[in-house]
Parts: sequence; structure tokens; C-alpha cells
Amino acid sequence: MSDNAAVVEAVHEALSHVNDPEIRRPITELGMVDTVAVAGGRLSLKILLTVAGCPMRDTLQRDVAAAVDGVEGVEELDLEFGVMSEQQRADLQVKLRGKAGAEPVIPFNLPESRTRVFAIASGKGGVGKSSMTVNLAAALAEKGLSVGIADADIYGHSIPRMLGVEGAPTQVEDMIMPPQAHGMKVISIGMFTPGNTAVVWRGPMLHRALQQFLADVYWGDLDVLLLDLPPGTGDIAISVAQLLPTAELVVVTTPQQAAAEVAERAGAIVTQTHQKLAGVVENMSWMELPDGSHIEPFGSGGGKTVAEALTRDVGTEVPLLGQIPLDPKLREGGDAGVPLVISDPDCEASRAIRAIADQLAVRKVSLAGKRLGLSPV
Ligand SMILES: Nc1ncnc2c1ncn2[C@@H]1O[C@H](COP(=O)(O)OP(=O)(O)O)[C@@H](O)[C@H]1O
Ligand SMILES: [Mg+2]
Repeated sequence: MSDNAAVVEAVHEALSHVNDPEIRRPITELGMVDTVAVAGGRLSLKILLTVAGCPMRDTLQRDVAAAVDGVEGVEELDLEFGVMSEQQRADLQVKLRGKAGAEPVIPFNLPESRTRVFAIASGKGGVGKSSMTVNLAAALAEKGLSVGIADADIYGHSIPRMLGVEGAPTQVEDMIMPPQAHGMKVISIGMFTPGNTAVVWRGPMLHRALQQFLADVYWGDLDVLLLDLPPGTGDIAISVAQLLPTAELVVVTTPQQAAAEVAERAGAIVTQTHQKLAGVVENMSWMELPDGSHIEPFGSGGGKTVAEALTRDVGTEVPLLGQIPLDPKLREGGDAGVPLVISDPDCEASRAIRAIADQLAVRKVSLAGKRLGLSPV
């Protein structure tokens, strides 16, 4: 082998450790490495992007440069970016999803899927569903799980802001590459509407949008998918049950009794949809004053009431997974795009959220007693 051939081989080896930032698979496997040539210590490299104007180009540039930096025989790098041809993109899609033209399937429903799906539900808005979704997701990601978030709150999408995601998803053929934030894959209807355009979709379109989230997005291998549901028991809750019969519901409520009654109704939908209830989260349970004393602005007992009522409704134990205090930092984190469990992991609210994430992470989905969901319309 000539010296140059050995260097080229070493470069290929080094590049096999570089993942595409969106697809998270080695660029060598994805057909993205086009030209590798070495002459007199100068490495000429051409990398093909999946789409022109790929938002991850800078990341890729950095990763590629870092990877070849240590390769013996390479003194200079000439890095050029190209764009995949249509044929190359089609080949990539086949590589990632199987046969071309196949109907998109929801990967989480395949028997071999090892993804646990949790739908975060509540009766009312403003109880902290979205806040719990992003913080639970971040806590699960911190445990080393690969986590996806789908913002199914079509009218009131808030997940992109809470996670500081600004980029739009890129598209490769029929696949949507979800942007990433804090190591999680995130998709939201908010990414498909310019500015803050109000979404005025009707039921069947909502169903279709959700189906797309689940089927057309390239999620890769997820350990956990969290779905942030809109408040109430409307169209989307029914669609989730149809599209993801194995999704388990996490019901969020405040301690207030009136809120608890509404939350119970949201949870009780599982008696019709035959889904499982993972448990209840009580949010805004108390607030610590500067002198260390606690006040309960929203009363107390709502979470326990909901858990007990749902246990009666469904006939199996529905646990109260935890109680989260009010903490202004939690709201600030949401506004700033950094979940509290990341920015202040040791505060009481973060600890309480992590304790809930621990319970969700270890839950084993038993097939015993599991019934089939509603059939899709
Ligand atoms: N434990 C908490 N402490 C302080 N503020 C909170 C807490 N939980 C939620 N909030 C704030 O309450 C508002 C509503 O929360 P959000 O997560 O958007 O609710 P939902 O998704 O149920 O409508 C947001 O401004 C959020 O930052
Ligand atoms: Mg919300």
C-alpha cells in the first residue's frame, strides 16, 4: 500500500466516527463522504450534505476537521461541501427507512419497538403540561436515554420556545429531520407555521399532522418519546389513542380541587381508549417563601384526589408520581429556552422532577392485560 493510500484509509477510519448531527449515524455509512484525496500532506475532502443550506453544516465542519486532525500524514485540510443528488438522497432514504415508496409507518407501533411513549395530558391549560414535558424529557436525557419530544399542542404550541429551538426541520425526500435541543429531538407544529400564525385546522387535519409527526419524522432509535398534548379530551387525545395505542398517559394537575375534577376527566379517557395510565403529577403544589416557610396558593390534595379517582375508574393502581413546587425559576427557564433541571439541577423543583423521571425510566411495559387500541379511522 502506498503511503497516500494508507493515509486515505486512516482518514476514512477517522470519518467513520463522525456522525451526521441530524441523523446521528456515521457520515461514512450515509454516503456523505464523496472525495478523499491526499497529496503531499494535503487532504482534499468533499462532504455531501443532504440538503443545500443544511443548518448543521457548521457542526459538521467542526466535527470533520477535529476527526482528521489527528490522522498521521495529514498536515492541511481542504474541506469542500457539496449537496447530494436526488438519487443519492433517495438511496439514503431507503437506507434509513427501508424500501422506497413504502407507506410511512409509525415506528413506535412496530412489535420490535423499544420506545416507551408517554402522553402528557391535563384537563385545563396552564397547569404546567409543557413545562413538565420539557423538564421530564431533559431529566430522562440526562440519565443517558435518547429522548424525543413531539409537541402535539397544535393551537398552543410552546415547546420550541421552552427548549430554545429556532431552526426549522430539514427535509430529506419524504423524511423530516427533527431539530435538536439539549440533546433531544424535537418536533412541533410551531416549526411549520411562519411567525406566530394561528393554526386553524380541523379534526382530520390535526389527525394527519400528528400522524406525520410520528411517521415522517426520522426519530432514530428512541428510548422515550414524550408527547405534549393540548388541554382537554378533544380530537388530539383521541388521535393519540388511535395512532399510538401503547402510549401511556401522564396526567398533570394542580392541587386545586376544581382543576382535579377536570384532570380526572382527561385521565378517564383511557377507559374508552384502553390506554395505560402511567400516573399523576401534581404541579404548583406549594411555594417556599424567603423565610423557608411554605404556602399553598392553589390549595392542596388535587394530585392525590386525581390518582385515587383514576384508580377507581380504571381498576388498577394509578400512582401519584410526584409533587412539584412553584418556582419562578421554572418559568424563567421556559422563557429562556433552558429547562430548570439543566440550569438548576439541585433546586427542589428539579429534584422532584428527576424523581418522577426515575419512575418513568424504570417502568417496564408488560404485555399482560394490554388490550388493542381503537382502530384508526
Ligand atoms: N412549578 C412551576 N413553577 C412556576 N411556574 C410554573 C410552574 N409550572 C408551570 N409554570 C408556568 O406556568 C405557565 C403555564 O405552564 P405551561 O407549562 O405552559 O402549562 P400548559 O402546557 O399546561 O398550558 C408557564 O408560564 C410556566 O412557566
Ligand atoms: Mg402547553
